[in-house]
Amino acid sequence: MNPNFSSTIKFIFLFLGKMEAQTSKVVLSLNAKEVDSLKDGVSFKKNPEDGRCYIIYKSSGGFKACKNQCKHQGGLFIKDIEDLDGRTVKCTKHNWKLNVSSMKYVNPPDSFLQDELEVEMLDDGGMQLVELSPIDPWLTDPRDPLELQEGEVKITYLTHACMELQLGQKRFLFDPWLMGPAFARGWWLLHEPPADCLDRLCAADLIYISHLHSDHLRPNGGRLPEKVDLMMSDFAGGASGFPMTFHGGKYSGELNTVQCCPGNIVERKPNTINRLFKFSFTASFAVINSSEAITDPPANAKIYKDSWEFDLYVDELNSAISSEIFKHESWIQFYYSWAGFQNYNLVVRMIETDDSFKPMSNGYDYLVDFLDLSFPSTRPDREHSYIEIKNRIGVMRYVVLHGGLWDDLYIGFQNRISRDPDTYHHKFWNHFQTQLPLHGPDWDQFLQQVPPIQETDALNYGLLNYCSIL
Ligand SMILES: *[C@@H]1O[C@H](CO)[C@@H](O)[C@H](O)[C@H]1NC(C)=O
Ligand SMILES: *[C@@H]1O[C@H](CO)[C@@H](O)[C@H](O)[C@H]1NC(C)=O
Ligand code: FES
Repeated sequence: MNPNFSSTIKFIFLFLGKMEAQTSKVVLSLNAKEVDSLKDGVSFKKNPEDGRCYIIYKSSGGFKACKNQCKHQGGLFIKDIEDLDGRTVKCTKHNWKLNVSSMKYVNPPDSFLQDELEVEMLDDGGMQLVELSPIDPWLTDPRDPLELQEGEVKITYLTHACMELQLGQKRFLFDPWLMGPAFARGWWLLHEPPADCLDRLCAADLIYISHLHSDHLRPNGGRLPEKVDLMMSDFAGGASGFPMTFHGGKYSGELNTVQCCPGNIVERKPNTINRLFKFSFTASFAVINSSEAITDPPANAKIYKDSWEFDLYVDELNSAISSEIFKHESWIQFYYSWAGFQNYNLVVRMIETDDSFKPMSNGYDYLVDFLDLSFPSTRPDREHSYIEIKNRIGVMRYVVLHGGLWDDLYIGFQNRISRDPDTYHHKFWNHFQTQLPLHGPDWDQFLQQVPPIQETDALNYGLLNYCSIL
C-alpha cells in the first residue's frame, strides 16, 4: 500500500562503525566580557580551575578552538612570530606548526589534523568550549566498506517525514512519527502509514531523528524500540508558529487565510551547534534511475484524515484541566520558577481560552514579569515589551503539568499571540521551546507544600480569576 521508490545504484560504499556513545564536557567558559576582549586571530586561554590551556581562533567566520596540546608528543604551542597572518602557532618541543584557521599541521605538511573543540555561544554573550569524546564515534572499530549491487537500494515513504531506506541488508528509518497527533493535538497525519510500519521501526538497524520536534519522533506515544542505534540532533532551527498564531501588528487579517508550511519560517535563529548528530555513513557515488521509481501512491492508499480518532487524544489532553494543582493559584509561581527564565524585560499575559480562543470565565488570566519573575496584577509602569498569549486551556495545562516544551502550544497552533512592540523575542521562545529543565516540575512536592484548600474554594476553584484575586 505504500509507494516504493526503487532505484538503480551503481556503487555505494557504506562505512558503518560500531558506534560508541559520545559524551560532552565543558572544558572552558568565558563570560561576555572575556569574549568581547578576544582579538581577531589566535588567543591563548587558561582554565583557572585546572590550569589547562586552550587556543581560540577568531575570524569573520566565527570561532574555532582546540586544546593547547601538540599531536606529536603533547608539547605546548606558543605564538608563531614568523607567521605574519597570525594564523599559526608553534610547538615549543620540536617546532611543529599548526594552522589554527584550518586546524591543519603546516609542518610537517599533510601530517595531522588537530582535534577541534565545539564552540558554543551562550545567550548572555558568553562562550563555552565543549570537548566531545570520542570525537568521531563512528571511526572506532570501523567495519569494512560494503559494496552494494544494483537493486539493493530501496526507499519507502511511510508517512509525513518518515522514510525507510534499505541498503543491502541494512535498514534505516528516518523521523518516525507514525501514530497519533504531534504538537499536542496541533498536527495530524495526512497519509495512513503502511500497516507494518511499527514492525519496520523495530526491525531498523538505525533510526535517525533529524530534530527534536514531535512530528519527527512520535512513533508510538514517544517510545522507540530498544537496542536500535539512534542518531539524533537537538537542532530545531526554522520551525515556528509564525505567522499562523499571530494577530495584530503586521499580520492582522491574514490569519485565517494563510496557508503555509510551518517548517519554512525563518524567524527563529538556528541553534549554533548540533552536538549529537553527524552522519556515520557516506554514499560516495549513486545514480538513481528514476524510470524505475513509483511516484504515485497506490490506488488504495488511504488519506488518514477521514479516520482520525480525535477524541482519544483530545480527552487525554483535556484531562489535565481538572488536575489538583490548578486548584492552587500558586502553581503559577511554582511553574515559572521551575522554568527558570528571568532577567529579561518582558511582561507576558497568559489567558486560558476555549477552542475558539475566547477567554474562559473560569480560566486563569495572569501576568508574568520576566524581569524579576513576579506576577503583578497590572502591567508595570516602566518601559517593557509585552506579549499577550491566549492558550487553549487543555493544551496549556497539559504542557504545565508535564513540563512540556511550548512547541506544543506554539508550533501546534494552540495559541494566539499579540505583541507590543511587534518584535520577536528569540530568547524567550527559545527558552520555552528548547531550554526548559529535562524533568517536569515536581508537582507532588508542590501539593505537599501548599496549604489545604477550603471546601468552598475547592468547589469554586475554577471560577477564580488570578488577576481578580490580586
Ligand atoms: C592557513 O589556513 C588557511 C585556510 O585554509 C590558508 O588560507 C592559509 O594560507 C594557511 N596558512 C598557512 C601559513 O599555512
Ligand atoms: C533504468 O530502468 C529501466 C527500467 O528498468 C531500464 O530499461 C533502463 O535500462 C535503466 N537505465 C539505466 C541507465 O540503468
Ligand atoms: S611535541 Fe610538538 S612538535 Fe613534538
